[in-house]
Amino acid sequence: MSIHTQENVKRISVPDIAAKKGGEPMVCLTAYDAPMAGLLDPHCDVLLVGDSLGMAVHGLPNTVGVTLEMMILHGQAVVRGSRHALVVVDMPFGSYEAGPAVAYDNCVRVMKETGAPAVKLETSVELAETVAVLVQRGIPVMGHIGLRPQAVLAEGGFKAKGRTDMERDRVLAEARAVADAGAFCIVIEGVAESLAREITETIDTPTIGIGASAACDGQVLVVNDMLGMFDWAPKFVRRYADLRGEIDRAAAAFASDVRGRRFPAEVETYFSKKPASQ
Ligand code: KIV
Repeated sequence: MSIHTQENVKRISVPDIAAKKGGEPMVCLTAYDAPMAGLLDPHCDVLLVGDSLGMAVHGLPNTVGVTLEMMILHGQAVVRGSRHALVVVDMPFGSYEAGPAVAYDNCVRVMKETGAPAVKLETSVELAETVAVLVQRGIPVMGHIGLRPQAVLAEGGFKAKGRTDMERDRVLAEARAVADAGAFCIVIEGVAESLAREITETIDTPTIGIGASAACDGQVLVVNDMLGMFDWAPKFVRRYADLRGEIDRAAAAFASDVRGRRFPAEVETYFSKKPASQ
């Protein structure tokens, strides 16, 4: 692993991402620490320090308990471990909803303390004004519409969005409002293919889908889901590895070697130097 100093680092920029509308699909994965960021970085356009770290790393039941301090700590690690992709840090629940002034202060803190060039907010029509103020004041904002995980307690679960006409109109309105407010990119989560297609075709802002079909301008997955770290994953996840199985096998083999006194062997042992012969 190499930890990059940020001097001489030429990353994909916010305008580069905004310009990817309709082009080759963008690749985005979540990352929460420096070694994983370093491994994913050459393959990704965007590394998202998602507040999914609450579940993926900290064992929380949802993202509601994630704090600004947690996002800053993990954001710093991901920036240090990467040099190519645009790093975007999620603003946690409670850090931006109260109004533009609070949102501005917290976004500035995240950008200054992590070095990440952009933030992501779970957005609605009501939050479009806040997005506009942030963007006008120089904060690059990625929006997030459709299924908004931070609303899990208010909505009583994670539910796909836009399946009724009324909901469909609401998600479309969200997309338009957040695009008009100046977001450089919008994550669409948990919506039907036809709605993701309509949004992607209607707005000039690039869309990144998660559980939102191939109609989007890019795709994002939670890295732990994609690597097969959990015994359950949502329908839209494709597992590209079975790290859970690999780690289980490795830990069982280590335990067996330790208990059977096969580890450590001589090659894994330090010995005192032989005294020089007289
Ligand atoms: O927190 C997160 O990881 C996210 C992605 C799922 C888009 O918001």
